[in-house]
Amino acid sequence: MQFEVFTLLPEIFPSYLETSILKRARERELIDVRIHNIRDYTHDRHHTTDDLPYGGGGGMVMKPEPVFEAVESVLGLVSLQTPPGPVSNIPIILLTPQGRVFNQTIAAEISQHPRIALICGRYEGIDERIREGLVTDEISIGDYVLTGGELPALIVIDAVARLLPDVLGDPTGAEDDSHAMGLLEYPHYTRPPEFRGSKVPDVLLSGDHAKIDKWRREQALERTFRKRPDMLEKAELTKEDLKFIESLRHS
Ligand code: ADE
Repeated sequence: MQFEVFTLLPEIFPSYLETSILKRARERELIDVRIHNIRDYTHDRHHTTDDLPYGGGGGMVMKPEPVFEAVESVLGLVSLQTPPGPVSNIPIILLTPQGRVFNQTIAAEISQHPRIALICGRYEGIDERIREGLVTDEISIGDYVLTGGELPALIVIDAVARLLPDVLGDPTGAEDDSHAMGLLEYPHYTRPPEFRGSKVPDVLLSGDHAKIDKWRREQALERTFRKRPDMLEKAELTKEDLKFIESLRHS
């Protein structure tokens, strides 16, 4: 899968992309992340990418021309004089606190595309014509405001990349994740069997896989019930799950 990232701060990206799983995924050509500096698409002497807001007020606004030119040029889009709206079948995603709030379902949806574009906002905002005429989707990573869309773009890349085939070492790696099944994940243990008096639950040492599966399912249900009861409303639950949750309500 190919990620085209448009930013005014390309130096933010390498350290994260050159580490661990994303580094390996790039080396194995499972993902390709291309970072494009929006400033390279300016034509004035000062390489201006922002300007004062019409109507006054504080802060600066990202100018439309370099962003349009960068995205159109990289994606090979034909630029229209009077665009009726976005003209790309490649998702062009703006990272903004105004977008739909990112979650595992959206990550899975994005992972179906062979190529996406991510536009990172900076300054106080972006010229509205970028939204109207270029962007096809807007994503927020949560209800708080950051100084720019670069960390959100890395978060989207990370969450999407690990869903792609072969990116995680274990082929079932992403299946049991918290949120993947609509539940929080069950607890994990590794050696030693006893640490500072705290023991690994016996069932995990029993070798009885049916029992282990049942225990893990119940742990996932209980954790979700206690920490994120809102998630239970959307989770796919069996009759047995519902019975178990009912028993938690009375415990
Ligand atoms: N840019 C600034 N804050 C953001 C957020 N919460 N999500 C996505 N992009 C942002």
